[in-house]
Amino acid sequence: MTTTTDTAVSTAQRLVLDRLYKTFESRNRESFAAVRGIDLDIEPGEMVALLGPSGCGKTTTLRMIAGLEAVTSGDIRIGETSVASLPAKRRNVGVGFESYALYPPLSVRENLAYGLKARRAKNVDQRVDSMAQRLGMTDLLDLRPAALSSGQKQRIALARALIRNPPVLLLDEPLSHLDASQRQHVRRELKVLQREFGYTTIVVTHDQLEALSLADRMAVMDAGVIRQFGSPDEIFDDPDNQFVADFVGEPKINLVGGTVRIDGDRTMVHIGRAGELVTASRIVQHDQQVTVGLRPQDCRTDVSPAAPCLEGEIKVYENLLEFGQATVNVPGVDDAMVVQTPAGHRWTRADPIRFTAAPERVYLFDTETGERLR
Ligand SMILES: Nc1ncnc2c1ncn2[C@@H]1O[C@H](COP(=O)(O)OP(=O)(O)OP(=O)(O)O)[C@@H](O)[C@H]1O
Ligand SMILES: [Mg+2]
Repeated sequence: MTTTTDTAVSTAQRLVLDRLYKTFESRNRESFAAVRGIDLDIEPGEMVALLGPSGCGKTTTLRMIAGLEAVTSGDIRIGETSVASLPAKRRNVGVGFESYALYPPLSVRENLAYGLKARRAKNVDQRVDSMAQRLGMTDLLDLRPAALSSGQKQRIALARALIRNPPVLLLDEPLSHLDASQRQHVRRELKVLQREFGYTTIVVTHDQLEALSLADRMAVMDAGVIRQFGSPDEIFDDPDNQFVADFVGEPKINLVGGTVRIDGDRTMVHIGRAGELVTASRIVQHDQQVTVGLRPQDCRTDVSPAAPCLEGEIKVYENLLEFGQATVNVPGVDDAMVVQTPAGHRWTRADPIRFTAAPERVYLFDTETGERLR
């Protein structure tokens, strides 16, 4: 017997945001520009993670793409079509937002089937069963939404967005209510489904590991603008500005004041009372005041005696098994610095420690604008 599954594989579509703006007008307070000119060009079938602090405009951006929020100015294109003035239901965008919006009188099975039936899709039951199986929720199909936990509702909302195989998929923190093991499972399955069906996807997440594991590229947003758009490697290893360096990375990057010292063909940066690091930065001048960024993971403690380095004293040492994490007081530096240390060596409070990093990992930022000085 041959079974034909109506998977209705959508042809992946390019998604372009072109100088997109959103200003909220309200009677009681001043108008508020939540999105201030976003440009994004997302390849067909690509998965982009949108990261940024609370209130920076992530949900507003997704709602504009979905057609749930009017655009103030700018354009949204899916494939060759400008959709900015089309009603939501004509945009063919799948959404999985935090507000689950399941129909309470319908069972989970009926909730999943609803949109497919409305579109007169074939093999609806089979598609529902297959999706439920893949997301590990066959036991939920006969329940009604009122009987579900928030994590279960969230998985069903995700399944409902995925089951249509939309050319463009928008997910706003789709895994935030899941426990750790479900989260890993659903995350992997989401990635597999996304690769299989090729939905062009934007996923908003507050979890950097989730963003790393899912995304082809990441967009880091701050106060209504995109501060950097690039591969995870570019975002982590080559931040364009201090905001991105500071927002992305766990534990956080160390940011300390420094003074540039040009020494022949070497550029050094003087930190605290006696510390000095070599940097690969070139567009700086002797005596320039800068902000130095140094990731804990990039620090090395095997420093030869005469080599430039920072020296301090252990304030707190945490043994994290695969490696250690030292919080270090460096003379003349206001905030303690965090240094990742190799597993073999245990440190105790007040131990002296010396550390350095590869020159290309010693980032310099303009103290006024926060832009990277390369
Ligand atoms: N309908 C509205 N009227 C007025 N202001 C709004 C409206 N919706 C959102 N805002 C404002 O726009 C800004 C961006 O909100 P948005 O929900 O897009 O943030 P977000 O990045 O999704 O944050 P979070 O991570 O907390 O979900 C916020 O300052 C918010 O108060
Ligand atoms: Mg939001």
